[in-house]
Amino acid sequence: MDTPRDDAIYVTQPQLPPLEEFIPYLAEIWDKRILTNNGPFHEQLETALTRYLGVEHIALLSNGTLGLITALQALRITGEVITTPYSFVATAHALLWNGIKPVFVDIDPHTLNLDPNKIEAAITPQTTAILPVHCYGRPCDVAAIEHIADNYNLKVIYDAAHAFAVRHDGASILRHGDLSVLSFHATKVFNTAEGGAIVCPDAKTKQRIDHLKNFGFVDETTVVAPGINGKMSELNAALGLLQLQHIDRALARRWEIDAAYRKLLRDVPGIRCLQPLEAETPNHAYFPILVEAGYPIGRDDLYLALKRQDIHPRRYFYPLISDFPMYRGLPSARRENLPVASAAAQKVLCLPIHPQLSDEQVQRIAAIVANP
Ligand SMILES: Cc1ncc(COP(=O)(O)O)c(C=O)c1O
Repeated sequence: MDTPRDDAIYVTQPQLPPLEEFIPYLAEIWDKRILTNNGPFHEQLETALTRYLGVEHIALLSNGTLGLITALQALRITGEVITTPYSFVATAHALLWNGIKPVFVDIDPHTLNLDPNKIEAAITPQTTAILPVHCYGRPCDVAAIEHIADNYNLKVIYDAAHAFAVRHDGASILRHGDLSVLSFHATKVFNTAEGGAIVCPDAKTKQRIDHLKNFGFVDETTVVAPGINGKMSELNAALGLLQLQHIDRALARRWEIDAAYRKLLRDVPGIRCLQPLEAETPNHAYFPILVEAGYPIGRDDLYLALKRQDIHPRRYFYPLISDFPMYRGLPSARRENLPVASAAAQKVLCLPIHPQLSDEQVQRIAAIVANP
């Protein structure tokens, strides 16, 4: 990996609290000598997050990918699962790790999330679940997905890796579906360096997840499932507790940057910003723009123009998951099946957004986009 330069601007920068605030947490860990296995900070973070996010139960995990893998295990999902090709590879990898066949369905051109109108045609007798992604933290059409899942008796697991603190219709977006999975990776809105969580509606499911993330152990001598080691350490949990104290300020700064970009890019021909959805409280995790007809150069040329100025946007999500070698042989991975996702993968550029970004930096980035 390249060493970040001081003046380079990356798509994101890990958010960290002042170091001196973390020292007392470390001192407590050293004092107690509890490093993992449901330590006190782990328990405190689970409670704090359920309150902050407004959800019933949370099981912490060592990362979001293990969260997805464990969520599928918890609900005993098998056969085929309907999902989006327009996401980070971990979404579909979690299915392969469970021996499940991904069935890719196209996305909606406005939300870039799984298109509910195309789900039913992809259901077969082997379909057991839907795995949609709240892409860029923008809510899926949860009502339409729930309607289909109810009709066909399918489970719904939301990949909510981008959706920390997102609300919809006055409540957490994480309350929808059977389970939602968060990522607390360093690059996310809320991070524990590495980390993740499964949000679940009932205590019984949380208990099963807690067993699964600890090798299947219930007590010293009882193992009830072929579980995995998915536990979050005390160091990560302590960092999370401290991060939570600063999260509102970080979200507020993201909101300001999002508003500034929208204003600066409003009249740039060929640049489209995704519109906020109705009744949504966004987290501004990403700032995707679509480079469309009317813009003087293509998306990749804009990407390179910014890179030449040491500004590093990302082409999330290009290539599509369905174009990677382990997926491209699937019938659902054919480009003709995924025209909207294929077009989005060619047009989207995620501009830098993180709380440390200054107004001047945002203006500089927008000026280059306006005049490449
Ligand atoms: C949509 C999506 N799903 C899953 C993951 C995996 O999360 P983690 O990196 O915490 O394993 C990520 C990000 O990293 C992601 O962006």
